[in-house]
Amino acid sequence: QQTPSSLITIFGATGDLAKRKLYPSLYHLFTKGKISKHFAVIGIGRREWSNETFQEHVRTSVHNAIGSNENIEEFVSHFYYQAHDVSSDESYRELKTLSDQLDEQYQLEGNRIFYLAMAPEFFGTITEQLKKQGVTDAKGFQRLVIEKPFGHDLPSAEALNKQIRESFSEDQIYRIDHYLGKEMVQNIEVIRFANAMFEPLWNNRYISNIQVTSSEELGVEDRGRYYEKSGALRDMVQNHLIQMVALLAMEPPIKLTTDEIRSEKVRVLRSLRPIEGEEVKDYFVRGQYGPGKMHEQAVPGYREADNVDDESNTETFVAGKLMIDNFRWAGVPFYIRTGKRMETKSTKIVVQFKDIPMNLYYNPGKPLAPNLLVIHIQPEEGITLHLNVKKTGQDIETTPVKLNFASHDLDGINTPEAYEKLLHDCLRGDATNFTLWDEVKLSWAFVDKISEIWESTQQEDFPNYPAGSMGPKAADELLDKDGFNWWPIG
Ligand code: BG6
Repeated sequence: QQTPSSLITIFGATGDLAKRKLYPSLYHLFTKGKISKHFAVIGIGRREWSNETFQEHVRTSVHNAIGSNENIEEFVSHFYYQAHDVSSDESYRELKTLSDQLDEQYQLEGNRIFYLAMAPEFFGTITEQLKKQGVTDAKGFQRLVIEKPFGHDLPSAEALNKQIRESFSEDQIYRIDHYLGKEMVQNIEVIRFANAMFEPLWNNRYISNIQVTSSEELGVEDRGRYYEKSGALRDMVQNHLIQMVALLAMEPPIKLTTDEIRSEKVRVLRSLRPIEGEEVKDYFVRGQYGPGKMHEQAVPGYREADNVDDESNTETFVAGKLMIDNFRWAGVPFYIRTGKRMETKSTKIVVQFKDIPMNLYYNPGKPLAPNLLVIHIQPEEGITLHLNVKKTGQDIETTPVKLNFASHDLDGINTPEAYEKLLHDCLRGDATNFTLWDEVKLSWAFVDKISEIWESTQQEDFPNYPAGSMGPKAADELLDKDGFNWWPIG
């Protein structure tokens, strides 16, 4: 199916995200024939670039990301640049003129996508101006794509949403959570709802706990200024981790439509037990990396990074226990864990099934291994099922085995794959894998209660895990006290 024609206007066109993800993704869509020949891109930035400079920038970014140049000249010929001052009326009037002109030149039917890949403090002004100066006044669809962070907490997210909604309606807004574009995150629903052997067991009668880990090897790098105000809870938990939990926990939607899926996810978030006050320390653990070793190389601690306070109280690691108070999940902990400068880069989900009622193969000192379903999100993509079988030989002894399905390895982590899918979805008008305002609102409400406590109390033992480890000891104790342990993710 050919995607509709469209003009794509990218605010933040000279920035890092556009360079690393957006141009390579658009190029992939172009070479795969998934983008209509009727398309044009306007890059918006503060710098005074010419169209040629911009096109060269796009060419280089594609080359660096993909290494291929097939049809690159034709591709970049669709790119135009406008130097822009986000708060000047004049800039938007010029943008309107250029948009209308390209519309005609490429027969874009008035379809417009505005992609805000820049600092969120400008989101409100930009959307307001787009409407006020008539840039959105075209006969086709008008869609707004916004990158995270969507606010800093619930009040700021509400204010931002209110401002944006003055110019775009909810169904025109595509809030990016790039985890929702990952192949294996999208596979969660298929594994659950297309297999007779999982869905009947997918509840508190057969599942003892679910663990979601997203660990990173990278440190804060050059993002100290942003990260000091954010921390891992806002940066990863509020969006990516809670989204994965919602997909794991939701009821089967009656249809695979955007509205049905999103409303089931919202219902999960509504049943998330709020953790507040004194309880925070029983359900959540925070960590901050100190100096350590990554791949034999000594690396500095978080507090030594640029733009980070010497006594920073910002967490670079979070582990938590989420409880979903509904019929299906009552009593089943969902453990989540994420951190920077951990031992390995990996995102995995482990579903641990309850022990069978009676172990016929009881062997003192060697309990039956539990059945596990592991969903490998990245860097490998696939699923593994841990089962028990008979050990070959005379005795009836059991041994654990793993059934493995490895989806063909894409080219590792941070490929433009997720963005490619999400851009394509947006062009086709499919908002399923974007976050609805209600989801954003409920997850901020949950997270805010935890950050409130963390911000008002200094964590005395920071830094509490060395770079290159799996986080602070308290994260292991969180499961230990429930009689569980983190399954290895390496
Ligand atoms: C981003 C966070 O949303 O996700 C980053 O802001 C983090 O801090 C990144 O590094 C992780 O994404 P991925 O796809 O590499 O797991």
